[in-house]
Amino acid sequence: MAKLEIKKGIYWVGAIDWNVRSFHGHTYSTQRGTTYNAYLIVDEKIALVDTVYGPFSSQFIERIKEVVEPSKIDYIVVNHVETDHSGALPEIMKLCPKAKVLGTAKCKEGLYRHYYLDLDFQVVKTGDKLKLGKRTLEFIEAPMIHWPDSMFTYCPEEELLLPNDAFGQHYATSERFDDETDACALMDEARKYYANILWPLSAIILKKLEEVIKSNISIKMIAPSHGIIWRKDPLKIINAYASWAKNETRPKAVIIYETMWGSTEKMAKKAAEAIIDKGINVKIFNIAVSDRTEVINAMLDSKACLIGSSTHDNDMLPNLASFLEFVKGLKPKNRIAAVFGSYGWAGGAVKEIEEMVKSAGITIAQNSLGIQYVPSREDMEACYNWGIEFARKIN
Ligand code: FEO
Repeated sequence: MAKLEIKKGIYWVGAIDWNVRSFHGHTYSTQRGTTYNAYLIVDEKIALVDTVYGPFSSQFIERIKEVVEPSKIDYIVVNHVETDHSGALPEIMKLCPKAKVLGTAKCKEGLYRHYYLDLDFQVVKTGDKLKLGKRTLEFIEAPMIHWPDSMFTYCPEEELLLPNDAFGQHYATSERFDDETDACALMDEARKYYANILWPLSAIILKKLEEVIKSNISIKMIAPSHGIIWRKDPLKIINAYASWAKNETRPKAVIIYETMWGSTEKMAKKAAEAIIDKGINVKIFNIAVSDRTEVINAMLDSKACLIGSSTHDNDMLPNLASFLEFVKGLKPKNRIAAVFGSYGWAGGAVKEIEEMVKSAGITIAQNSLGIQYVPSREDMEACYNWGIEFARKIN
């Protein structure tokens, strides 16, 4: 396997997981696979920044061996404890038992509780530096982006930021750089990653971005621990993160519904017709058959959502309930919603959805629309007009 030098003397020694289709205990669908990126910096001293997921240890070690004998590694920087980045640590430590491991205080605790290894561990904090020779590694603690132990490593001489999960994407490709790959797919995966993992941490992310910008460090390359390396335009992903972290939205609508015999679906499509007629971008998802990760991705920059369900046992249908529970955890801000649904006799879905939507922090912008049994021609007209009313609020 050929060596992959990302900068003179700095090598990508990660692994490509082409076939993983779900992540984080099936909470994230990874339709394009992922990569676990690790970086080897060869200077007077040799430092490895992060490892890979355990099952990929042999691929990772082979890549290191293409560059140096693993026994020559002096330092292993652990930016993050989560097993997709530290899983190969026990295997690589067998080959460089004298290497010093560096990470935050929380990393030390977390690593011990994962592997129960007796490591030569040096706790580092923001501002600490490690001189390798011509190059220096500087550490920036990044707690809760996205674990308490998370940290960024920065190499000033190379203007290189190694931020672990931040700015990453679950995107397996044969290319390693942003200027080599499909730009739309790359941004789609970066947005999906933010929406599904980092969205609830937006306030912390915004503060960290401001701190990094204020520190005036120059960043010419961002090499995250998943997916593609940003070298052509690192500012593109920094600006995108700033926008997502501010919960900035566009006048777009996402319609999410679950239907039993098709009445709620008819309502969803009629309301969509009205909103589209007003020139607003709409995406429609039947949540019972949709990929939740993609729906969340669509929601990230959309100002509005319409949520609907048929009534079942005086409540909404279960796939929608599970979806809204997930949305609640994402803590969306600056969004509006409208709620709809069909019912047979007692009803109940609309009220339950309203409660869930409010508890997720989304503002209900107009009265909900309920229709009994199968919508009549008049009902469909009412549905269209209800959609027009909501479109005005989106605009
Ligand atoms: Fe990619 Fe938080 O692990």
